[in-house]
Amino acid sequence: MCGIVGYLGSRKALPIIIKGLKRLEYRGYDSAGVAVLNGSLEIVKKKGKVSDLESAIGEKKLDASVGIGHTRWATHGEPNDRNAHPHLSSDGKLAIIHNGIIENYSAIKKELEKSGHSFKSDTDTEVLIHLIEEIKIQNKCNIEEAVRLALNEVVGAYAIVVLSEDDERTLIAARKGSPLVIGIGKDEYFVASDATPIIEYTSEVTYLNDREMAIMKDGSLTVKSLENVIKTPFIQKLELDLEDIEKGGYPHFMLKEIFEQPKSVRDAMRGRLVSASHSLVLSGIDQYLHRFTNAERMLFIGCGTSWHAGLIGEYLFEDLARIPTEVEYASEFRYRNPVIRDKDIVIAISQSGETADTLAAIELAKSKGAMIFGVCNVVGSSIARTADAGAYLHAGPEIGVASTKAFTSQVTILAMMAIYLGLKKGTISKSKYQELLFGLDTIPDKVATILGKAEEILEISKRFYQASNFLYLGRGYNFPVALEGALKLKEISYIHAEGYPAAEMKHGPIALIDEDMPVVFIATKDSSYEKIISNIQEVKARKGKVIAIVTEGDTEIKKMADFTFEIPSIADPLVPLLAVIPLQLLSYHIAILRGCNVDQPRNLAKSVTVE
Ligand code: F6R
Repeated sequence: MCGIVGYLGSRKALPIIIKGLKRLEYRGYDSAGVAVLNGSLEIVKKKGKVSDLESAIGEKKLDASVGIGHTRWATHGEPNDRNAHPHLSSDGKLAIIHNGIIENYSAIKKELEKSGHSFKSDTDTEVLIHLIEEIKIQNKCNIEEAVRLALNEVVGAYAIVVLSEDDERTLIAARKGSPLVIGIGKDEYFVASDATPIIEYTSEVTYLNDREMAIMKDGSLTVKSLENVIKTPFIQKLELDLEDIEKGGYPHFMLKEIFEQPKSVRDAMRGRLVSASHSLVLSGIDQYLHRFTNAERMLFIGCGTSWHAGLIGEYLFEDLARIPTEVEYASEFRYRNPVIRDKDIVIAISQSGETADTLAAIELAKSKGAMIFGVCNVVGSSIARTADAGAYLHAGPEIGVASTKAFTSQVTILAMMAIYLGLKKGTISKSKYQELLFGLDTIPDKVATILGKAEEILEISKRFYQASNFLYLGRGYNFPVALEGALKLKEISYIHAEGYPAAEMKHGPIALIDEDMPVVFIATKDSSYEKIISNIQEVKARKGKVIAIVTEGDTEIKKMADFTFEIPSIADPLVPLLAVIPLQLLSYHIAILRGCNVDQPRNLAKSVTVE
């Protein structure tokens, strides 16, 4: 949440910063601002999107080769011009951008007020830059020392970049709990929340660790801990292409990412599923095989869509590997004094690898002796680095705020793990193992087949886009798919939607059904097929409108449902990988028909780095 960019070099800073902010806009789009330094600090900031900031800049030159920029997801203080970053010290000579939350800002603010500081915004960030200023004056120290001392006084999470008028060719950055990457070019430096603003200028980067700061001056980069210990930065090559972060002819990132799924699912299997021998090579598990096969319990931890993938993981691990499994919302788990034993394995699922609650939950589990296995997309992210072992999704950047391809990649990884452990533990036969791997191998083509019929979903969407409520129902492996379908719809179209296990309907939600209520059934031919037919009849008897996702060739449900959409047949444990695709398309088309901004839905941000 919140995107930050900084530049120091010999190019014009402003275009680099604005372009970078547009790439980071998925992290927040309540307000945006820039500060550049050319003799004196010049600042422009504006409520709204980066395009509003551009209009506010207008003809202003802002000519400088050092500067910082920010796109905000509001935490402290409403989204307005005043609360937009950058924030200034009281003498106007220091500027800061910040991603995160300073938890003890209120106590610090009171102390600063006693010393005569007054504040123009409601933000925790302005308090931090005033604290840095106060420490600089009191300690008569330079700016980098003032930043270091100030950060030792704050509690919370931050990625910051500071500019100082008295230190014209210097950028100071620091992080704890919020991501920060430094790009190293020829006599130039870039700082950003992720690598997307950097890739066209340099492929050499270093990721700061928690409680580290970087001091960039013309021609030199120094990294040190907040304890003042000099560190040797680990410089690595970026594995990211420009085309990965562009829309590539699609009107929206979300649609592009939905259509990328044949490839992203294949990439999740690449090097792991050996098609020729129909076998799995999972080195992340092999390293800890004894621990996995002797695990007494698996705990899946995640938030939102990643939690839904974890719920499918529960079904997979219990069904195939016969390991007792629980799924936990990270935000609840971390505050619940959970019982964790040393034979537990925690599987943390996170696209961004930066979700604050998930990170805190695994730190708690780790401190109690559990082994942590990370299933993340973003390479080098905080969760990936905290985990003892893990498997990357290799889905490529997911920029649309609504998670789509990351979900199918997460489920693909979990399915491979459960199948592998099932074989190793002897809880599935060799022939079942081969059958499931054969099924997995066909998923990319089957996803492509579904995407080839996207027009059918558009037609269904036209019929229902004005509905005020939706119900999503599924059983077994399709219950988590129902939850995911409902989440996708509500987050991008703002239609109230709920997902339920289909049989739970008669314990309450059935009261909602009337002729205006569309009910989406995920009703594929699996072990609960007959039961879900009864649930469909219950809805039809009350005049509800039924949209059913069915298996190719189904004739029975077709007779009952108002609309059906066929997906190819596949083994039960793999059905979610196909069934979710039409639901992603349904939410996309409905949101577009309602005129919503699908890539940047209101109030949301992609990477939730605050709790
Ligand atoms: C929904 C969505 C969110 C995320 C959740 C966790 O479409 O994207 O619910 O799934 O915020 O994010 P990650 O996976 O980055 O931990």
